Amino acid sequence: MTENQPPDHEEKNLSSECKELLSVPKERGWITHLRQYQFQGFWCPSAEVFQAVISFQKHFHAKDSDVVVASLPKSGTTWLKALTFAILNRHRFEIQTHPLLTSNSHNLVLFFELDLYTSNLVPDFSSKFPEPRLFATHIPFPSLGTIKESNSKIIYVCRNPFDSFVSAWHFVNEVRPQSSSPLSLDEAFDMYCQGMSAFGPFWDHILGYWKESLKRPNNVLFLKYEDMKEDGVVHLKALAKFLDCPFTEEEERNGVIEAIAKLCSFEAMKKLEINKTGTFVMNWENKTLFRKAEVGDWVNYLTPKMEERMSKVIEEKLGGSGLTFKVIPELADPVQ
Ligand code: A3P
Repeated sequence: MTENQPPDHEEKNLSSECKELLSVPKERGWITHLRQYQFQGFWCPSAEVFQAVISFQKHFHAKDSDVVVASLPKSGTTWLKALTFAILNRHRFEIQTHPLLTSNSHNLVLFFELDLYTSNLVPDFSSKFPEPRLFATHIPFPSLGTIKESNSKIIYVCRNPFDSFVSAWHFVNEVRPQSSSPLSLDEAFDMYCQGMSAFGPFWDHILGYWKESLKRPNNVLFLKYEDMKEDGVVHLKALAKFLDCPFTEEEERNGVIEAIAKLCSFEAMKKLEINKTGTFVMNWENKTLFRKAEVGDWVNYLTPKMEERMSKVIEEKLGGSGLTFKVIPELADPVQ
C-alpha cells in the first residue's frame, strides 16, 4: 500500500448502513492518509466524517431557538465561534474570567460532524445544552437536515477563496502525520480548483448559504471575513441584532462591544496559553488554528497563472450571483 492509496482500515469501523454508502466516489484526501468521499454533492474529508454526517441527518432534531455557526474550513470559523459564544453568553460571564480565556472556541461550540456525531455517538441534548443551543458545522446548506425546515438562526462566514485555499494548504501540512509526505501547493491547488476540498466544491458551499441568506435574511446571516477584519464593531452589532439580543445603549456606553472584539481578536486568542498548548477536534493542536489572519496573504504563494485559474473558476461558478470578494486589502475594485 502506498501513501496515495489510503488504507481500507479507515472504513472498518463504519456502521453497516454507512458501508453501503461507501460505493460513492472517493478520492485521495488532502490529509494524505485519509480518503475524501463524494456524498450529496459535496466532499466529506474522511470516512468518519461521512458517517457522522449521516448520523446527524438521521438523529438531529433542530429547535427554532438553535443557533448554528456555519463555514467552509479555514474561513474564520474559530473567530466566529468565539464571537457568537461571547455575544450569546455575555450576561453569564465576566470578561476577566471568561471561558474563552481558558478554552479554545472549538471546545465551547461543537461541530455536528467533527465532534457531536463522531464515533457512532448520538448526543444527549437534554442536560448540558442550555437554550439557545449553539452548534457549528461545515456541512453545506442543502444537507443540513431538520435545520433547513426550522426557524434556527445560521451565521455563515465566507472568506475569499484565494486566502481560504492558502490557509487550508498550510493547515493540512501542519496537522498531517509525521509519517506522510507533505501535500504540494500545486496538487492542493488543482484539487481545490476542481472542487475537491473538504465540504466543497467551495463555490457550491458558498452559494448555498448565500442564496438562503437572500431568501431568508432573518434566519441566515452571511458574513465576510474580510469585512469583519475591517470593522469588527459593526459586525458584532449586526451579529447581536440578528441573534435577537442587540447591545443596549448602556452596553455600548460601557464598552461591552469593544471588550468582546478584543477578547476574540486574533492577537489576543493566539497569545493564550490554551491556544499554545491545547488541542481541538481530531486531537489537532490549537496553535495550528492561528497563523497570520491576513487578507491577501495568498499573493505570497500563488503564481500569476494560479491567480488566473482561480479567478476564472470564481467567475464561472459565482459570476452573476451578486457575491464579491475582497482579495487584497487595498483593492479598489473587488473581483467580479
Ligand atoms: P490564516 O491561515 O490565513 O492565518 P478557521 O478558524 O476557519 O480554521 O480559519 C483559520 C484562519 O482564521 C487562519 O487564517 C487563522 O489565522 C485565522 N484566525 C484564527 N483566529 C482568528 C481570529 N480570532 N480573528 C481573525 N482571524 C483568525
